[in-house]
Amino acid sequence: MSEIIYHGHSFLEIKTTDLTIYIDPFITGNTLCDIKTEDAKCDYIFLTHGHNDHVGDTIEIARGKNITVIGVVELTDYLESKGISVHGMNIGGAYTFPFGKVKLTIAHHSSSIMNGPYAGEPAGLILNIEGKTIYHSGDTALFYDMKLIGEMNNIDYAFLPIGDNFTMGIDDAVKAAGFLNAKNIIPIHYNTFDLIKANEKEFKRKIESIGKICTVMNPGDSVNF
Ligand code: NI
Ligand code: MN
Repeated sequence: MSEIIYHGHSFLEIKTTDLTIYIDPFITGNTLCDIKTEDAKCDYIFLTHGHNDHVGDTIEIARGKNITVIGVVELTDYLESKGISVHGMNIGGAYTFPFGKVKLTIAHHSSSIMNGPYAGEPAGLILNIEGKTIYHSGDTALFYDMKLIGEMNNIDYAFLPIGDNFTMGIDDAVKAAGFLNAKNIIPIHYNTFDLIKANEKEFKRKIESIGKICTVMNPGDSVNF
C-alpha cells in the first residue's frame, strides 16, 4: 500500500512500500507544515522549481544523506554545487526511478534561486507509482496543454494550486481540473500566506458542480492507494 501525505503549501510526501519521496519540502517558513526539518526522512526529493517556498529545506534535509534530488537540470546543478546528490531532467523527459516513473511537464511560472542563479524552467510532474498516476502541477498559470496532459495520462490524483496571485486561482484551477479529467482533484498552494488566501470550500463546491471529485487535505492528512 502507498500513501500521499500533505504537509501544507505544495509539500507532498509519497510513501511506497519501500521508499519515501518528498515533493517541494518547504518546512521552515511554511506556516501550515506539520513536521519539523529534523524529523524529515526520505529517499528522494522532487523539486518543481527554484523558489524558496518549494526548494524549502532541501539542502538541510539532503546534505550528507543518501537522498537524491530530482528536478530541472539547472536547478539540480546548483544543488550539486552545494554537495547534494542529484538527478537532472528537463521538460518532456521521463525516467524510471526505483519508486516509479517521473515525467516533467511544462508549468507557466518563473524559477530562480532566491538571490541567486537562474534555476531553469519551472516544471510540473506526472508520477506513475504502484499502478496510480499522480499529477503535481507545480506553480503554474492555467494552460490549454493541460487538456493534452489529461488525454495522455489517466490521472488518479491531480494536485493544483488555488491560491491566486502567484499561480492559478480557484476559477482557473476548476477549468484546469476539467482539462485534466483527473479522478480526484486536491487543492494546494493556498492559505500559507495572506497573499494566497483561498476558500477551499468554494473550490470543492465548484469542482463538484462540474461533476468531479475534490478532496481537501489538511496538513497531516493522507490518502491511501
Ligand atoms: Ni514559485
Ligand atoms: Mn510557490
